[in-house]
Amino acid sequence: MKKGILIALLLAGLAMAEELPKGPGVDLVYAKCQICHDLTYPLQNAGLSEADWEGIVDDMIDYGAPINEEERAVIIKYLATYLGPNPPPAEEAAAAETTATVDGKAAYAANCAGCHQAEGQGVPGAFPPLKGNPVLVKDATYPALVVLFGLQGQIEVNGAAYNGAMPPLGHLDDATV
Ligand code: HEC
Ligand code: HEC
Repeated sequence: MKKGILIALLLAGLAMAEELPKGPGVDLVYAKCQICHDLTYPLQNAGLSEADWEGIVDDMIDYGAPINEEERAVIIKYLATYLGPNPPPAEEAAAAETTATVDGKAAYAANCAGCHQAEGQGVPGAFPPLKGNPVLVKDATYPALVVLFGLQGQIEVNGAAYNGAMPPLGHLDDATV
C-alpha cells in the first residue's frame, strides 16, 4: 500500500469525523445523509421537532436522496428522537461486540450502496466503482482502513480520476467492517 494514501486517509478521518448519538437508525443516517453533504447540516439543526425533521427529510428526497418509505420512517424517528427537542441521555457503548455472523450483502446495501451503487458500479466522476476495482482484491487492509477513516483526495480507478471525499464509517462494528 502506498504510504501517501494511508496518511491522506488518516488525515481525512481526523478532519471529518462527525459523530451522531448512538441509537436505532443511526447507521441509516450515516449511510444516507452524507451522500451530498457532510453531517454538519443535520448536527447544526439538532433540537428540531418531528414535523420539522419530516419536512427536511422530504426536501432531501426531493433533492434526490435515495430513501424509500421504510427508511424514511426510521430516519425521521431517529432524527426526531436523538436530534430532537428532548434527546435521551447518551447510550452506553455496546458492552461486547457481537460475534453473530454479518450478512455482508445486506451490510453493503445499508452502508455503501447509497454512494457506490447497488452493484458496486459507482457513479462516474463522483463515487468510484468497487466492482472490478483492483484495490479490493489486492489487500483487505486498505478497504477496511478506508471504511474506518474515510478517504479524501485524488485517486485513480481503472484509468478514471476521482477527487471526492468518503466520510469515515467508524461507527460500524468490526464484524460489519
Ligand atoms: C441528494 C443529495 C442530498 C442528500 C442525500 C441529503 N441532502 Fe441534505 N441537503 C441537500 C441540499 C442540496 C441542501 C441545501 C444545501 C444548501 O442550501 O447549501 C441540503 C441541506 C440540508 C440541511 C440544511 C437545512 C435545509 O433544509 O437547507 C439539512 C438539515 C439537511 N440537508 C439534512 C439532511 C439529512 C438529515 C439527510 C439524510 C436523511 C440529507 N440531508 C441527505 C442535499 C442532500
Ligand atoms: C457518502 C458516500 C460514501 C459512502 C456511504 C461510502 N463511500 Fe466509499 N468512497 C466514497 C468516495 C467519494 C470515495 C472516493 C474518495 C476520493 O476521491 O478520494 C470512496 C472511496 C472508497 C474506496 C477506495 C477506492 C479506491 O480505489 O481507492 C473504498 C475501498 C470504498 N470507498 C469502500 C466503501 C465501502 C466498503 C463502503 C460501505 C461500508 C463505502 N465505501 C461507503 C463515498 C462513499
